[in-house]
Amino acid sequence: MTAASRPEPQIPTDARLRDLARSLSLEQQVSLLTGADVWSTRAIPEIGLGRIVLSDGPSGVRGEDFDERHDSLSLPSSSALGASWSLDVARRYGRVLGQEARRKGVHAVLGPTINLHRSPLGGRHFEAFSEDPVLTARLAAAYVDGVQSMGVGAAPKHYIANEAETDRFTVDSVVAERPLRELYLAAFEEAVTEAKAWLVMSSYNSINGTTASENKLLETPLSTDWGFDGVVVSDWTGVRSVEAANAHQDLEMPGPVGHWGAALLAAVEDGRVSRDKITEKVVRILRLAARVGVLDGFEPAAGHPDALDGAAVARETAVRGAVLVRNENGILPLEPAALSRVAVIGHNAEQARTQGGGSATVLPRHNISPLEGLRSVLPADVVVRYSRGAKVAEGLQEFPRGEIHNPVSGVPGIRVTFLDAAGAGISGEDRLASRLIWFGAGIPEGTSAIRLETVWTVPAAGVHTVGIGTVGQVRLTIDGADVFDDELIDSTNVLGAALFAPPQKTFNVTAAAGGKVSLTAVYRLPPNQTIPLTAILLGEEAAAADPAAEIAEAVENARSADVAIVVVGTNAAIESEGFDRENLDLPGRQNELVEAVAAANPRTVVVVNSGSPVIMPWREKVGAVLLGWFGGQEFGAAVADILLGIAEPGGRLPTSWPAALADVPVLNTTPVDGQLVYGEGIHVGYRAWLRQQAAGGSAPAYPFGFGQGYTSFVLGQPAVLPSGQGAGVSVSVPVTNTGPRAGRAVVQVYLSRPDSAVERPVRWLAGFTDAVLDAGSSGNVEVQVPACAFAHYDGGWQQEPGVFKVLVGRHVEDDFQAAEVEIG
Ligand code: BGC
Repeated sequence: MTAASRPEPQIPTDARLRDLARSLSLEQQVSLLTGADVWSTRAIPEIGLGRIVLSDGPSGVRGEDFDERHDSLSLPSSSALGASWSLDVARRYGRVLGQEARRKGVHAVLGPTINLHRSPLGGRHFEAFSEDPVLTARLAAAYVDGVQSMGVGAAPKHYIANEAETDRFTVDSVVAERPLRELYLAAFEEAVTEAKAWLVMSSYNSINGTTASENKLLETPLSTDWGFDGVVVSDWTGVRSVEAANAHQDLEMPGPVGHWGAALLAAVEDGRVSRDKITEKVVRILRLAARVGVLDGFEPAAGHPDALDGAAVARETAVRGAVLVRNENGILPLEPAALSRVAVIGHNAEQARTQGGGSATVLPRHNISPLEGLRSVLPADVVVRYSRGAKVAEGLQEFPRGEIHNPVSGVPGIRVTFLDAAGAGISGEDRLASRLIWFGAGIPEGTSAIRLETVWTVPAAGVHTVGIGTVGQVRLTIDGADVFDDELIDSTNVLGAALFAPPQKTFNVTAAAGGKVSLTAVYRLPPNQTIPLTAILLGEEAAAADPAAEIAEAVENARSADVAIVVVGTNAAIESEGFDRENLDLPGRQNELVEAVAAANPRTVVVVNSGSPVIMPWREKVGAVLLGWFGGQEFGAAVADILLGIAEPGGRLPTSWPAALADVPVLNTTPVDGQLVYGEGIHVGYRAWLRQQAAGGSAPAYPFGFGQGYTSFVLGQPAVLPSGQGAGVSVSVPVTNTGPRAGRAVVQVYLSRPDSAVERPVRWLAGFTDAVLDAGSSGNVEVQVPACAFAHYDGGWQQEPGVFKVLVGRHVEDDFQAAEVEIG
């Protein structure tokens, strides 16, 4: 072989990455460790390095702007995915996100959110999967695997002990080592060890006294025990010091200004941070760049598999996650041929909440409401009459796009003009929506004010409340008269309050149906904005009505219908980011509405449109209750599929559903003296409920794992077999579909350890699987229970030898089929 034909010796990729990192100057290295802007890292063209674009996440991919013209697929929120108990669905969900990311030029999705449902008051509960670490860990790993199979990075977040929102930047979560390992870290573990996540996001909070971005937990277990070789990205503004560079924190976001940059350069120069530490961080960032295909000379980690139908996956997830908790006398599914009049009731039936608020927000092209979904599926001769029944949405709502008109371009929407200091136009754009957000992109250089102009066509005669929501100096002109010229002040001082819940100023206008109201707002940009976030909302408040009359009208509608479908739910002021919930009540007079409708028509079906548990005092007085979560853009179509029996509700509760707030064993989300103490230890979720019940306390309304389909299953005696040396056990369970139609069984395996020398939960989930069986057919399902399911943490993973009970059932409080296994 000649020298020319001899292949180049293969230098392992890691060594090449390290050489490349070392070839950079210290300035170049440090410049890579803080974002170039709000959503991306710095490019270094000299070495063939492009920028890495990161984007929220976790239930859609927004991209680098909040621009409704660049729409995104909106998938159901994570609590719906949690309720699917399906790794297949989670993997497809992840693949669709990866596909969306590629379409939008995004290299890393900021998700999944895998904090646990510790308290149902947690504001971002909707964004997380479950109260159980095993269910969470499996789903999270499948999601990560799905995203990364498309060549896009996933960033499990928020590492760690970030289960609440109150004082989220400063709170110290005080968690003992055992619950930290067995619950909160366990939920993250498989996403790193099995799915090999390319990023992890550190959280805002402190854990046992040290803020996450400086915490040793980034080192152990994440990097050492779990072998994480990806990038630890901070939560946005979560790096608080140069000290974080001495921890395993790699990337500070957002940029370009942060706590690193020049300060970090100085710290390296005077020896407070070693150059090696910096080089290692750069290696990890280059490795991520190589994986996502923005580093020349390196093969990206994955190809581009075939296109998936994102809307179909959104609809499938909504169906598979919807949990039917009550179905008296088989009222569901409805038989379309037997219907002539259907009453559809509830504000959320018409204006569904399809996603939770906060950074998870994406801007889909459409949202299908339950009312639309039902109308499109019901036969044409069925009369569908809608009643709002009770007002739910509070404050200004975006104008419906069909009602606003751009007075300059003559097209639907809003005219936006960017103005310089002299008030002259720099540039303009035609926008479609009346809620506009600029976060790090889209405002041209030299802009000192932004003008919004629109003409609203009034849908119904009467007095309407319109206005503006924003933070800062703004002038609002309605029909040529200046009605407001002042500052709107954010009293919360929470990053993003402008986005999530801006202060508002409203005015009444009286108009005939079809009348025109012209609105012009001029927003003056603050001179020294540290975070480039501007949000302006023009809109109308949902009309007020006499509450008693609204309920009476809905009752009259229900009384004359064959079935009343009531959609109840929460609003944006309740489940979002930056704050926790105050209680678990449905807002407004919705409970009264359901009671009244159910009294008028026993064939009342309630669909609950919330991201997390709500109290349902009427639950035993209605015919059926379907928990639909925040079901994504196809929510209404999925609800219609389920109610009419086109699809079976596939969900099982990923979190215990309480009957009353006072019953909930773990509630606290509010720090005391800066600390949020996880005093319940390992007894979270159903573990806490079971312990409470054992002491004579209340049970939840519906237990963890519970949910009905349209058929029934009987489980037989399980056989427990060792899976191999130290690999846990395999549980084989005979399952029979004893009902009238094909359906999906979710088989759950719990362990318990009577007479243990160690404090333990009453029982704990160890494994699960699902199977679809035809009516009358039987099969055996295998559930794998890994060895770690038998272990507990006490200074290290320990195994208490002896006999464990293996409990097989359909939920955590089922009449179990039991077996025993001896662990050596
Ligand atoms: C949230 C993160 C999100 C980030 C970027 C933060 O405030 O906690 O979940 O990914 O903002 O939007």
